[in-house]
Formats: sequence, structure tokens, C-alpha cells
Amino acid sequence: MAFDESLINDVLKHADIVKVVSAYLPVIRKGKDYLAKCPFHDDTNPSMHISPELQIFKCFVCGTSGNAIGFVRKYEKLSFREAVKKVAEICDYHDPRLEDIHETKVVDPKRVPLVKCLHDLTVYYQYALNSPEGKAGLDYFNNRHLDADLRSKFRLGYAFKDGKATCRFLEEKGHSLKTIEDVGIASSNSGTYSDRNAGRVIFPIMDANGEVVGYSARRLGNGPEAKYVNSPETYLFHKSNILYNYNNAKEKARIAGYVYVLEGFMDVYALYRIGVESCVATMGTALTAEHIRLLRSLNVEIRLCLDGDLPGQKATMEIANNLVNNGLSVRIVDNQNSTKDPDEILNEDGAVALNAYLNKLISRVDFILNYYKNTNPLQTTEQKTQLIQEFIPVLLAIRSQIELDSYINKLANITGFAPEAIRNILKTARKKPQNTDFRDMIREYHPERKVLRRLEFAERELLYQMLQNREAVAFYEQKIGGFYDETYRIIANYLIEYAKEQKDFVPVDLISSLENSDLPEKDELINKISELYLERNHPDICNEELLNNLQQVIDTEKEKIFESDTLNQSLEGKDPMEQARIVADYNRRRLRKKH
Ligand code: UTP
Ligand code: MN
Repeated sequence: MAFDESLINDVLKHADIVKVVSAYLPVIRKGKDYLAKCPFHDDTNPSMHISPELQIFKCFVCGTSGNAIGFVRKYEKLSFREAVKKVAEICDYHDPRLEDIHETKVVDPKRVPLVKCLHDLTVYYQYALNSPEGKAGLDYFNNRHLDADLRSKFRLGYAFKDGKATCRFLEEKGHSLKTIEDVGIASSNSGTYSDRNAGRVIFPIMDANGEVVGYSARRLGNGPEAKYVNSPETYLFHKSNILYNYNNAKEKARIAGYVYVLEGFMDVYALYRIGVESCVATMGTALTAEHIRLLRSLNVEIRLCLDGDLPGQKATMEIANNLVNNGLSVRIVDNQNSTKDPDEILNEDGAVALNAYLNKLISRVDFILNYYKNTNPLQTTEQKTQLIQEFIPVLLAIRSQIELDSYINKLANITGFAPEAIRNILKTARKKPQNTDFRDMIREYHPERKVLRRLEFAERELLYQMLQNREAVAFYEQKIGGFYDETYRIIANYLIEYAKEQKDFVPVDLISSLENSDLPEKDELINKISELYLERNHPDICNEELLNNLQQVIDTEKEKIFESDTLNQSLEGKDPMEQARIVADYNRRRLRKKH
């Protein structure tokens, strides 16, 4: 349902598109506009333009465009109503009318029985922990300093050794065998169903909304069996998408302004034990695109805290690069002299030591420098040149001159090269043409636009004028029998209606009115309109003469197309002699018309 236009206009009046986009992505200033890497396709260069003047954004590669509400709607995959509310939040605009908007969660019917089953199972595991058999689990947790508070907060439990009994319990609770299989807890390979976690302590894994979607089950001692058994991939559980504790960190990160990214959930508990709750852990997997998406939407500094051993350092470097390439801001816990994980630091060296460790943050560039210094032999000139070569892209990406100078000096210290020499190498690397000029970008990504046919060009020009002037709209209505291009025609018709309703034309209002409509093709129209708005090679003055010229081009070009269409139709199915006669006749008529 479309809603209150005046509310939308009030929100947009208080909104700033640059501020809204910046809440999700880093943006850089370029002249009057801002640029960002487009989140709607796999972007390597910043191809998304944000115009504060017009209050719209547009990606020149994938075409996605719109106003602040459209950006949030697409980025967060929200409904229009929710996006309006979100934009108001970001821009600190308060309005009682917004309070009536509530998130309308879409219920996925396939999830419901699975989530219910895991809920019952989690409660059962918690109950088992407090049973006589569960004493072993309880002792284990106590040994690891996981007290009652932490246990209940993270819903830790124990799985009875009798795995069949666990499955029977679930069946009695009304869960079908299929559901029991589908949540990944047991399979019928051997004819009977038995809990795969039997005899282990249980760490439920929650998704971003705090619902249990799977488990990690740890052996109690140091036996030969796997340390952790994780749920298999199920409809609910995708190990590589999970950030453990994300559901809590979401809230905490906003207050803290940072989030620690840790290696395992044991590290999460360690941080909780010293009062640092803004932290998440991967499930021991590499960082995935989904992880990055989740982290990005926290919009805070990422503090990477992985193991200090060599594989850990390599992973740190890769993850840090990955995060930076995706526009997140990162600092790294300097772990190069430590092989302990946070859990071990806390237990062996105490809370003060862990606190100090977590606060020893270095920049990614410093981390990489240290890493190379520690792992690469730097004796020969060749090895040193190699190091500098590896560093060029890192240095090129640094925007602050002070920072750059400091790294050049460090690199000079390590390699023994003069800072000037390093600067020269950088200069050469910079000279590679990097064309981000606005018009050139359009040409580069839309080479076909160079060969715009006369007709399309004229229609485009007229439509552009129609977006600015109601006179042009009136002219179109009276003099042009409809655009040849279908999208242009739809926009033109929309403009005619819009001009009747509105006293004046404001670009953002037109887009927001489309945003608020139920038109099935609204995204396409918004994209096209934003594209036109952002074009700057149009005449400034829209006068009679311009409109008449455009009309003439449109009329004659349309006539030509019409004629050649008719010609082609009349040629169809005719023998060659007949075809030749028709073509000759056609050419004669055209010649006559010209004179
Ligand atoms: P670690 O081996 O660092 O676990 O693996 P940890 O947190 O220190 O565990 P403890 O202290 O020995 O009990 C980090 C993460 O990798 C995954 C788990 O998610 C763990 O949290 N992992 C590790 C597995 O999935 N399976 C394993 O066998 C080991
Ligand atoms: Mn550990």
C-alpha cells in the first residue's frame, strides 16, 4: 500500500543521501559529487555516484539508482515502509507517524518446524546439563570458567550418551523423523535415529536473529575423536555464513564503535568474561561474502584478533585485505609475539593481560610490514625490491599524506632504500591512467551510447527537458504522438500525470513518488530517470526552438522507421522480382519527398 506522501517528503527533506549511503559504505568526495563502490554488483572501482545536489545515487556499471529511501530499501532488502523509517533513523529525524511502522517479518513456512525442533532440543540439552549424567559437562564448563550466567546466556548444554533417547524425546514432542533428520541432528543410516552429539557438551549456534540453527558439540576431554562436531549443512545452518554471537554484537557494536572478530566461540566467552561483549567469531572458516555483509552493516571499526601462529598471521593478512578491499575499516590486534588465543591469555595471564592484548591495535599496513619483516629474508637487493613491489598497491591506496610518509620511512628503514627512491617508484606506479571522469565513465561502460541513433538521441533530450520543465511536458502531450522507446514512453506518460498533480517539479519528489508507487517496473523507471538527471551535456535553456527541432527529428526518424517497417512487411513472402519492384518504387517515393 502506498502511504502518506507528506510523511515521505518530510523524511526526505531531513535526509541527506550522502549521510545515508555513508552509514553503509565508505564514500569519497569527487568534485560536487561523491563516489562509492557499488554494493549492488561486484564492484572493483567506485562506480556509484552520489549527488547531494539531486539527492540521488546511480551506479554507472549496473545501473542501480534511486533516492535515499531506494538505497536503503535495496541495500537492506527492506519494504518501502521500513526503508522510510530507517532513513529517518539514520538522519535523526523523529516523527510520531513513523512509530506506526513495524517490521513485518516474512515467515518462511519451511523454517518453522525446524526452528521449533531445535528450540525443544536446546532446552533438552540444557536440562541434561543439570542431570546427574550431565555433571561431567558441568565440570567441564566450570573448569573452563564458563559460569552459570554465561551458560544460560549462550544456552550451553550437554547431550546424553543415549542418543536414541534424545531422538525419542523429540518424537514425543511431536517432531517428525523427517524434521529430526532435516535439522541435522540424526540420520537413519543404521535404521534407527541417534543424536550425533551424544556424550558431548553443546554450544548452540544462533543466527543473526538469535534463533538456534545448529550446534557445535565438543568432546569432554582430550580423546582421539574430533574436538568439535558441527551440525552438517541444513536448510537453516550454513557454517560459512555464521558469525557466532552476531545477534548480541549487533546491539553492542553500535555502542562500542568497534567489533572484535575472533577465531572461535571460546574466545567470545573469554572476552565476555572481561566485559567486552562487542565481539563475534567465525566458525573456524575463511571470511565469506556473507560475513563481510554482516560486518559491514554494523558500520563500525573491525578489530581482527586471530591466532598469532604463522597460519593465523597469513589468515589475518588475507582477511584484513579482504575487509579493506570491501571498504571496511580495520585494525589488527598485534599478535605477532603471541601464540595464545584470548581464552588462553585470560586463563594463564589474567584479565589485565587480555585487556592489554586486545588494546594493542595496529594498522593493517603496519601489520603487513611486520609480517614481511618477520617472514621474508631481506638480505639481497632483489628480496628488498620484491618487498617494495608487493607494497606498492598497499601504499597507493593510502590517502593521508602523513600516513603515507610514515610508511615510506618505515619501508626505507627495513630495506635500506632511500625514501626518495621509494617515492619515485610510487610516482611511476601512479602515472598509470586512472580515468574516473564522469562523462568518460559513462562512455566507458556504455560504449553503445556513442552510437545513439538520431531518434533515440532526440527522444532522450526531450525527455530530459520534460524532467525539468512542465512546458516541455505540455509540448510532448500536444505535439509528439508518443516516444518510440517504450521506457521513455512510460516515463513520459507518468510525467503527464505527475505534472497535473504537482505544482512544481522537483527531481527527488518525482523519484520518491515512483518509489512509493506499486508500478511493477518502478525500479527500471527510477534507474532511467536518475541516469537522465545526472547527465550534464544537455542545453541549459529549454525554448521553443529546441523543442521544435527535437520534434522535427523525432517525426522524421519515426517516419523512416515506419516506412522501412512497412517496406519489410510488404516484401515478406514475395518473389525476388516482385521484391525488386517494391524497393524501386519505395526509393522513388522517398526521393520525391526530399525535393
Ligand atoms: P580452535 O581450535 O582455535 O578452538 O578452533 P578453540 O576455541 O581454541 O577451542 P578449545 O579452546 O580447544 O576448546 C577455532 C574454531 O574452529 C572450529 C570451531 O568453531 C572453533 O571455535 N573448529 C575447531 C571445528 O569446527 N572443529 C574442530 O575440530 C576444531
Ligand atoms: Mn582455545
